[in-house]
Amino acid sequence: MTILHISDLHVEPVGKLAYVRANTARRMIELTEWLRTHEETYDAIVVTGDLSCDGNIDAYHLIDAIFRSLTRPCYMVPGNHDRRKPFLECLSHFCPGYFSPENLSYSVDLPEARLFMLDTLQPGKHWGAVPEPVLDWLEAELRETKKPSLVFCHHTPVKPGMGYMDEPFGGAERLIDMLSRQPDVRLCTGHLHRPVATLAQNKVVVVTAPSVSLQMKLDLTPTGGDEFVFETPGYALHKFLEDGWVTHFGQFPFPSDFSGPWPFTNTINPTDD
Ligand SMILES: [Fe+2]
Ligand SMILES: [Fe+2]
Repeated sequence: MTILHISDLHVEPVGKLAYVRANTARRMIELTEWLRTHEETYDAIVVTGDLSCDGNIDAYHLIDAIFRSLTRPCYMVPGNHDRRKPFLECLSHFCPGYFSPENLSYSVDLPEARLFMLDTLQPGKHWGAVPEPVLDWLEAELRETKKPSLVFCHHTPVKPGMGYMDEPFGGAERLIDMLSRQPDVRLCTGHLHRPVATLAQNKVVVVTAPSVSLQMKLDLTPTGGDEFVFETPGYALHKFLEDGWVTHFGQFPFPSDFSGPWPFTNTINPTDD
């Protein structure tokens, strides 16, 4: 069983550029074509948040049309640039059995693996958190499962040394602690717009998928993590093998001119749910 993990689409409606210069609506056409022609390489798709730039409902309609058209199942969670209400209105069928309208966490029981999808969105905030009731639910679910598990969320509960992306994560300690007691588990995230691998609290492997649309400039200084570049976009593939979970990173063959760095002009973390 192979899970295709993509992240940070940052879709704007057709005719509007993301951050003044990224045509993310056109990128969705390229992505759709690739997903259709590579369906034999994955069994399910997971999208870890920032599907839109600011929760625009037309962007969500566009995303819905794309992922509905695929034959593989698809699962999503929101990120800090999403709005739960319009997200739910358009995309709730990609969040089966979600926890509540205020938190869209859920789990998926696949034949050979269990997926735990955590909603870490805090309206108006750039950084993420898992609320205590969701952690209680996750702990109970993990206790019951006997299958290899992947836990997906948008935010990364590890400071990656990328300046402004070195943020807090509410509930990180408890989350990592419960995952460390679970065999065959991996935490898979987005938000960093780069492929990153870390070991949270020296206990749990965390892998971050790059963005489908724009990459963060690789700047490991205190002022890094605040500009994007048009590097080759990519994805992660998670597969459970003899020695446990293995993550591969691949690149999408979409045109990239390697221009930048560019500022995230007009960026917001939507407050209106
Ligand atoms: Fe993002
Ligand atoms: Fe994000």
